[in-house]
Amino acid sequence: MKGTFPIRQFEKVDTPFYYYDTNLLKATLKAIQEEEAKHPGFAEHYAVKANANPRILKIICEAGLGADCVSGGEIKRCIETGFSPSKIVFAGVGKSDREINYALDHNIFCFNVESVPELEVINALAAQKGKTAKVAFRINPDIDAHTHANITTGLAENKFGIAMRDMEPAIIEASKLKNVHFVGLHFHIGSQILDMSNFKALCERINDLQRQLEAHHIQVQNINVGGGLGVDYCHPNQTPIPDFKNYFNTYAQYLELRPGQKLHFELGRSVVAQMGSLIAKVLYVKQGVAKQFAIIDAGMTDLIRPALYDAYHKIENLSSDLPEEKYDVVGPICESSDVFAKDFQLNKCSRGDLIAIRSAGAYGEVMASQYNCRPLPKGYLKEDF
Ligand code: LLP
Repeated sequence: MKGTFPIRQFEKVDTPFYYYDTNLLKATLKAIQEEEAKHPGFAEHYAVKANANPRILKIICEAGLGADCVSGGEIKRCIETGFSPSKIVFAGVGKSDREINYALDHNIFCFNVESVPELEVINALAAQKGKTAKVAFRINPDIDAHTHANITTGLAENKFGIAMRDMEPAIIEASKLKNVHFVGLHFHIGSQILDMSNFKALCERINDLQRQLEAHHIQVQNINVGGGLGVDYCHPNQTPIPDFKNYFNTYAQYLELRPGQKLHFELGRSVVAQMGSLIAKVLYVKQGVAKQFAIIDAGMTDLIRPALYDAYHKIENLSSDLPEEKYDVVGPICESSDVFAKDFQLNKCSRGDLIAIRSAGAYGEVMASQYNCRPLPKGYLKEDF
């Protein structure tokens, strides 16, 4: 046993696989619930896109969180897991008719609508069913959260949401349509955000927008501020729980909530990132001309974040206590971007050593692919060993 990993039991299953420390997940969920409970009206809808493993979803559902879904498939999985449809929100710029119909049939809490054409389609499909769909408008707040270019979402140039200047006309349009009911505003400024001043800027923008709407006698019942709280990918062995206290306090301090108004959050990464590790085996150690390579049996097909975003994940050799050496840790895929880390200090590696790629619980298993005809990695929970 090295750190918190049951490595002897790991020998019984095929690598690569995801290992989920469910004790840490439960402790994280408890921290969220405790901090949230200090602020009446705050409610969390877990962003399912971060990790949709059914057994992980079940634990999150049992903790009482709602679900933020971005596809019919996610809604279906959440309903099958036991999430109450009254706690499911449906976001996304490109909802298909089939997905909208599915969500209408299950009477989900709310559609986060990203354009007026989408609003009109939801209205028409709801009319065919004799239903009224609850809608919130996703507003693009044009805030630069200074994260990786591929994961910013709240800038005017991004495809997401309705521009601020179009917010009022959209709400007025909704009031004319018979089969949609306007219930709130939705925002999301990006992901892996650690500087709270970005969330403060969002609060100030929302305060302005609310005042603008109230001047025209438009009231907003629900405000959804999306997710985005980041995690420490360089954490030492003792895995930290993200600072939810500071995060919720920022909203409590700067967002001017009206009496009875509800504030919804859609945290994904901060709920599940730290509990997950991708476990792999060293296949070969190869001496290159300028480099030493640790070639492992996991690749970018199992965890694409380093290849796609240059993301840093801490790597550990679980099988070795020998002095550290420098390695490029690479996978077997036929792409030169299939690299987990360059010049990384690892305890000396040998064939068969178990490797843990840490903080991989969010946007790991869900983004795996079958490129090169590889099987998808399995996800195991702590209790499986
Ligand atoms: N709400 C909306 C509308 C979103 O677009 C997202 C994430 C979330 C909530 C959850 O954000 P979180 O709390 O996880 O930051 N694959 C990328 C991250 C993409 C995030 C997309 N949207 C990565 O691996 O870093």
